[in-house]
Amino acid sequence: MQTSNPHDHDEQFARRALELARQGIALTSPNPCVGAVIATPDGTIVGEGFHTYEGKKHAEILALEQAGTRARGATIYVTLEPCSHQGRTGPCADAVIATGIARVVCSMEDPNPQVAGRGFAKLRAAGIQVDMNLFEADARKLNEAFAKYIRHKAPLVTLKSAMTLDGKIARGTDLDASVRGTARTDWITGEVARAHVQQLRHQSDAILTGIGTVLADDPLLTDRTGLPRRRSLLRVVLDSHLRLPLASRISQSAREDVLVFTEDTDLSRKNELEKLGIRVELVPRSGDNALDLSAILNRLGELEITSLLIEGGSHLNASVLDSRLVDKVFLFLAPKIFGDAGVPFAAGLHQSIEFTNPQFHQFADDCAIEGYLSDPYSG
Ligand SMILES: NC(=O)c1ccc[n+]([C@@H]2O[C@H](COP(=O)([O-])OP(=O)(O)OC[C@H]3O[C@@H](n4cnc5c(N)ncnc54)[C@H](OP(=O)(O)O)[C@@H]3O)[C@@H](O)[C@H]2O)c1
Ligand SMILES: [Zn+2]
Repeated sequence: MQTSNPHDHDEQFARRALELARQGIALTSPNPCVGAVIATPDGTIVGEGFHTYEGKKHAEILALEQAGTRARGATIYVTLEPCSHQGRTGPCADAVIATGIARVVCSMEDPNPQVAGRGFAKLRAAGIQVDMNLFEADARKLNEAFAKYIRHKAPLVTLKSAMTLDGKIARGTDLDASVRGTARTDWITGEVARAHVQQLRHQSDAILTGIGTVLADDPLLTDRTGLPRRRSLLRVVLDSHLRLPLASRISQSAREDVLVFTEDTDLSRKNELEKLGIRVELVPRSGDNALDLSAILNRLGELEITSLLIEGGSHLNASVLDSRLVDKVFLFLAPKIFGDAGVPFAAGLHQSIEFTNPQFHQFADDCAIEGYLSDPYSG
């Protein structure tokens, strides 16, 4: 009789664990997305689980509970290193050991400095075989915001923009016209690319724009994927002089999910906005005469925002790139040229910037480049 090799199914089950982990997107933050699968040596799945913040239990525990006594001698496939410390739940490494699991296949080490390798050490010390790094790149990408947040207490910052081949983000005779709301607001990219923007919003805890964009386009800035999320997407507007119109779509749709950063101390204006369910917070100005972006990111970190999507206009793009606070970009390119009449991607940007690890995507007639300015796992 031919006996099956317990490693035969590794790819299949590790991929399934990753699929489960992804089901936690928008449900786990500020925790990481984690999926787990338990399989017996003959290749039968006896337990599965993925973590959600509200569910509290970690993915490994859910899978172990499902497997019961069938976990003895089995392999657990888990996308993130089992934890070794007492958090809201007991350490998963101890639970794995207690149930008699023989082997752990794990995609990546936990970027949380409280864990970082200690979970693996515990498992190995108990005589469990630990195999690493299957689908590591996918697992790391899934939890890049968690990695940045857990080490820096500030969100992973992604700058998203859609532009023409000549780098224009809107039509308009000039920027002033767009600020006055007289620019045409037709879309740069097509439907398929815009549907992906909704996915990017869904994966984010917060979205940020400048008052210039609100005045020009009157955007809603909501997550319209229809997929479940634990916390509403926090909509953040930088607005030094509280010019946010009460009649704007953002103001009218506010449900304690709009946060305006300002330096304006006009209490009556603040009250009017707060009556609509908008939070208004003061931030200082930084040296370059705009609201202090680093103070804003720290504040968002305090609010447990792990990922921030910037969908700003020309000035905001320039100032966040200049400040070196952007971790990655997702830049859509449409097969169009607007010429001199268009609004530039980043007016007044003082430096040249190169992206690492660029990935190219196609969305029907449009494409996009995703690239990094910093490594979310460093520091
Ligand atoms: N294609 C795309 O992806 C896309 C996306 C968004 C917007 N747009 C286009 O961009 C154009 C608007 O561009 P914009 O430059 O006027 O708008 P913006 O960059 O969204 O907003 C700029 C304004 O935000 C305020 N602000 C406060 N703190 C800031 C800081 N630290 N850095 C930068 N700005 C700060 C400033 O006004 P205060 O001094 O009053 O605070 C500033 O004038 C529109 O035509 C719109 O259609 C295109
Ligand atoms: Zn755990």
